[in-house]
Amino acid sequence: MQSRFRTLAAFAACLLITPAVLAQGDSAAVKPDRSIMSGIMNAEQVARGRAGHRTNCGSCHGAEAYSGQAFEQAWKGRTIFELYDLIKSTMPNDNPGQLPVQDYVDIIAYILNLNGYPQGEAELPPDEEGLKKIKIDTIPPRA
Ligand code: HEC
Repeated sequence: MQSRFRTLAAFAACLLITPAVLAQGDSAAVKPDRSIMSGIMNAEQVARGRAGHRTNCGSCHGAEAYSGQAFEQAWKGRTIFELYDLIKSTMPNDNPGQLPVQDYVDIIAYILNLNGYPQGEAELPPDEEGLKKIKIDTIPPRA
């Protein structure tokens, strides 16, 4: 009886503690807090990405493969990191993961700009934490 009570008490304590622990873990994770509409890539980076895409990707598919409605449907609500991670782990199809990180990030800046997300002053950062901070949102209407 005594020990069953103790088990129950321990179980109850777990119920109380778990939400607090979860909340703590949550706040440590990187949360998207930068808008994709705030000018996350600049003209120079987009130009580098266009050239990089032509050299490393263009022999197999044009950028139509990932623009417009299909892009939005696949990526809305996910982070730029997830897009980066997919491309880096699968492309170029005949040599995945073999480009420098900066080249992948530049190509992603080009793809995003091609989809109509605006340029600004900053460059899209070549680091995972930075890419996790930006969520892909609805493609803006063409001006
Ligand atoms: C050797 C040919 C080849 C090269 C080079 C290549 N791709 Fe691909 N890519 C493919 C094929 C084939 C598919 C479709 C099949 C698939 O998803 O694996 C594809 C699909 C994709 C997709 C869609 C993936 C999905 O799951 O929706 C993206 C995005 C992409 N490629 C980006 C790139 C980028 C960026 C580069 C340059 C860094 C690149 N590809 C270079 C052959 C290639």
